[in-house]
Amino acid sequence: MSEKKNVVCVGIDLGTSRSAVSASNGQRHIVDSYVGWPVDMVARKILKKNVLIGREALDSRPMLDLHRPLERGLLKEGSEKDQQAVRQLLIHLLELAGLGEKERENTQVRAVVGVPAEAMRVNKQQLRTAFAGLVDALLIVSEPFAVAYGIEALLHAMVIDIGAGTTDLCVMNGRYPTEEDQRTLLNAGDWVDEQLTRLIAARYPEASISPYMVREWKERYSFVGEPHGNVLVTAPVNGKPTQLDITEPMRIACEGLVPPIAETMLDLIARVEPEFQEKVRHSIVLAGGSSAIRGLDVALAAALQEIGGGVVRSVEDPMFAGSDGGLAIATDAPDGDWEKLVG
Ligand SMILES: Nc1ncnc2c1ncn2[C@@H]1O[C@H](COP(=O)(O)OP(=O)(O)O)[C@@H](O)[C@H]1O
Ligand SMILES: [Mg+2]
Repeated sequence: MSEKKNVVCVGIDLGTSRSAVSASNGQRHIVDSYVGWPVDMVARKILKKNVLIGREALDSRPMLDLHRPLERGLLKEGSEKDQQAVRQLLIHLLELAGLGEKERENTQVRAVVGVPAEAMRVNKQQLRTAFAGLVDALLIVSEPFAVAYGIEALLHAMVIDIGAGTTDLCVMNGRYPTEEDQRTLLNAGDWVDEQLTRLIAARYPEASISPYMVREWKERYSFVGEPHGNVLVTAPVNGKPTQLDITEPMRIACEGLVPPIAETMLDLIARVEPEFQEKVRHSIVLAGGSSAIRGLDVALAAALQEIGGGVVRSVEDPMFAGSDGGLAIATDAPDGDWEKLVG
């Protein structure tokens, strides 16, 4: 494949909200999927950098042209900036894994990059272009497939990856999944944030709330089903910090995820060969940050009751399930499966 002797395999999970890298040299890192360029000369003088990535970019957002390259699971069509942003994010992840430009000169890097299933379908060429020249061999896969591979849920199983921009469902039939085995929904973490913001604003029109506050509240108190006590938060009302009870908005916003995910899950099961459906029902795995919503696994298992019951469990390490799976694919993939991007 290349003259370089030293080989490092990496698995990269390019998420809409967070991206992770796991490498065969033992490195594992996670970063928020934000990339920002200083807006002008003043910003550049203060920030002393040409590009900022992750938390650092978020914290300096007033001074930046800030991009979240895979918002809603897709690269914006024809957007040069989003393509550059995705490339910068990839460079940053490789650097974190000890694979900076210098190291890459004499190391053969084989990267499996997991992207939202929809981006894989629509943006594959754009993604390839964004990665060209950075790695020696590349394989672009869908995030839920990477998760399935990593936990060896390869046969008669379903992975439901509930992220920020999208929820991706994938049935595993003991081979590379096809388009028919996968579905992408826009009902995921960002959607819950939008609903929650709207519901709180309707209940407390005087309160000033920002999307970042709402997301923090959700990550702390999200639930479906019965509340464990009231959800009380503090926000300024006419400038004065005031306690708000957001128990009902939280429940309604989170429970909104259940019907679309349950319906798609049942639909995918119905398409599996009849004799294997029961096995799939008993092997449903939740991944992604939004799978942490309390009670969501129970609610989805309840939806399986109407077709004979099943088992829904969560992955052990939601942060790195995708990148670890990518690394496992990179380690196992035979030469013929890679797209060669040498030179
Ligand atoms: N404890 C939590 N409860 C509910 N939602 C959470 C929690 N932790 C993270 N999230 C949500 O998970 C989403 C990020 O999940 P992730 O799998 O990283 O997404 P993506 O793969 O799309 O980048 C965000 O919407 C975030 O608010
Ligand atoms: Mg993800």
